[in-house]
Amino acid sequence: MSDVLTHDLVILGAGLAGLRAAVEASRVTNGDIDIAVITKGQMMRAHSVAAEGGTAAALRLDDGDSYELHAWDTLKGSDFLADQDVIDRFVHAMPGEIMQMDHWGIPWSRREDGKIAQRPFGGHSYPRAVMAADKTGFFELQTLYDTLLKYKNATHYNEFYVTSILTEGGQFRGLTVFNMTTGEYKVIHGKALIIAAGGAGTLFGFTTYSRTVTGDGMAMAYRAGLPLEDIEFLQFHPTGLVPSGILITEACRGEGGYLLNNKGERFMEKYAPERKELAPRDLISRSEITEIEAGRGFKGPNGLDYLHLDLRHLGADTINERLPLIREVCIEFNDLDPIVEPIPIRPVAHYAMGGIETDIDGATRIKGIWVAGEAACVSLHGANRLGSNSTAECLVWGGITGGEAGRYCKETTEIQSVPQDAVDAEEKRLYNDLLNRDGKEDLYELRRKLRSCMDQYVGVYRTGEDLSKALEIIKKLKVRYNDIKIADKSRTYNTNLIDALELCNLLDLAEIMVTGALKRTESRGAHARRDHKIRDDVNWLKHTLAFYEKEGPRLDYKPVNITMWKPVERKY
Ligand code: FUM
Repeated sequence: MSDVLTHDLVILGAGLAGLRAAVEASRVTNGDIDIAVITKGQMMRAHSVAAEGGTAAALRLDDGDSYELHAWDTLKGSDFLADQDVIDRFVHAMPGEIMQMDHWGIPWSRREDGKIAQRPFGGHSYPRAVMAADKTGFFELQTLYDTLLKYKNATHYNEFYVTSILTEGGQFRGLTVFNMTTGEYKVIHGKALIIAAGGAGTLFGFTTYSRTVTGDGMAMAYRAGLPLEDIEFLQFHPTGLVPSGILITEACRGEGGYLLNNKGERFMEKYAPERKELAPRDLISRSEITEIEAGRGFKGPNGLDYLHLDLRHLGADTINERLPLIREVCIEFNDLDPIVEPIPIRPVAHYAMGGIETDIDGATRIKGIWVAGEAACVSLHGANRLGSNSTAECLVWGGITGGEAGRYCKETTEIQSVPQDAVDAEEKRLYNDLLNRDGKEDLYELRRKLRSCMDQYVGVYRTGEDLSKALEIIKKLKVRYNDIKIADKSRTYNTNLIDALELCNLLDLAEIMVTGALKRTESRGAHARRDHKIRDDVNWLKHTLAFYEKEGPRLDYKPVNITMWKPVERKY
């Protein structure tokens, strides 16, 4: 029999979206509801802490920026797949979020005149990325965490791994979890859930994501019956440090850095004559691969051929003041000082544009469940996200979902029971089935194979042939997964068991991504098919929805919400 821990609002994830939601739910209820914040890591260790370059907002309405311009840039960046009512709400909400964070004490970088500083970012027609040097995510997370502590209504469950979402009658009931440090199985029972558990970038080997980002929230929601939207759109950031994949922020280019090939040419002049290094990420990543394939890259380890990001002309003062983390990372990991040497970079898996389908308020098809941040597809980014719009999305929809769910918890007096059958079945699955598996397959080998399959066949450029190969490999890996061995049979801090659960999530998400990509016979944003080079608005101006079925995802589609602008050709 499992313990039951009861709260009003349960928040899965302690990154920017999760903490912003917790603060807002506390604020709108004057701290009157009881909140659980659950993370499989530790507070202040969520992957948001690694966000570097900035958070977009149209602040300078008296100096050339406007909500309309931010909206247009976001839509054009999305290759017209984003929902326009969502973009409109986002751009209007962002300045308030920046000022709110300012009041909560974040040390935004400042201009000489004391006003909040902003820097250029790719695809934005105005320098609108607000920043705290190049450690923006760290300071945002710290500010939200400090603010949350002022309300004394949140219990932090560190190192608790959530294994399933419990629903009954189309309504949220609770979560099954285990305490990673003791192995105890528990139910967290609540009136409402906000999923803010991030993306799934460790599907790939060469990635900016932390080891912990394994798409758990998305995969659990999918298995609980919620559709995942637009999962085929995966962003490759143009500047991953070779060979580690660590993010080298776009702010380097925002501050004036150049991308150079092995002839010393600023090759982006050819591909995006106007925007050059500040074109959107999908375009730059494709240009980099084209340069490398044409033999104008440098030979890198393990096939990681690269190009150069050159900051030398910016000078030591700018680098030390505006990009201190980047300098530190290059020195620590590559023994290279960007003040005197160019940085080896190439496209790197960075962000999931898709996620759990939500409406404009972040609500899902299951009553009492909201989603915010990268785990969600509120449909702000469409086929390609602009840099600095993701931390911004976390703040806006963390706030919206926190407010909605907080009010819902306050108004809902009765708390529904948990479905005991499902609780017992999950306990059996974990401890009788999974933990006892003694098969012949090494789950770490399967995980390596999955990542190299995704790197090789589901990259910046895709073809039907490659995607079919990937799908075949993933399906075989899923079969092999049934025969894994969990060598560690203990319950205490069993990372072997956690790795098995994470791999199961990654396999499901890989299958959805590749199935959606194979079906989508066009090129749009980050989904670039060599065998279908053109964007096809007649057949594909629509969102993909993937529903869970035992034998594999069932796909359906829904229209894009077009309220302001008709799609046009995308030129930079
Ligand atoms: O390059 C960066 O600093 C990343 C920002 C983002 O993904 O929005």
